[in-house]
Amino acid sequence: MIAVLNGPNLNMLGRRDPAQYGTLTLPELESRVYAWAGELRMTARCLQTNHEGAFTDHDHEAIGWSRGMIVNPGAWTHYSYAIRDALEIVEVPIVEVHLSDIATREEWRRHSVIRDVVDHTVSGLGPDGYRAALEWLAGALADG
Ligand code: DQA
Repeated sequence: MIAVLNGPNLNMLGRRDPAQYGTLTLPELESRVYAWAGELRMTARCLQTNHEGAFTDHDHEAIGWSRGMIVNPGAWTHYSYAIRDALEIVEVPIVEVHLSDIATREEWRRHSVIRDVVDHTVSGLGPDGYRAALEWLAGALADG
């Protein structure tokens, strides 16, 4: 089972700037994630929260049941050492995903405080970034 953890404001996809985040809603994105996981013979469980402590709790709980994690911590990516420390505890492979290309946006979005505790990053591919993350995890898990 792959844990897919989405952070703040991602529940508002479809209402956020379509130039950055596209037009898909979160339920539509999660449906795609479940379908893509199935195609890769994996299972996924998607969770979203706007609360940093709840995200931390989801992370801790997923340590017990996940073989891999996909995380999009939204704006927390850029400043939350609590999220960074929670991810550091995880031993399964983690992929950091961003719908938008954070490297080419405002200065404050260019830095990720979780980058050194994740195994792979996908940024700027829109919803397909979650597919790329699942494919990367499928490869990583097959390798060992
Ligand atoms: C985001 C990028 C973040 O900078 C932003 O705060 C988000 C979404 C992305 O998916 O592109 O909420 O993580």
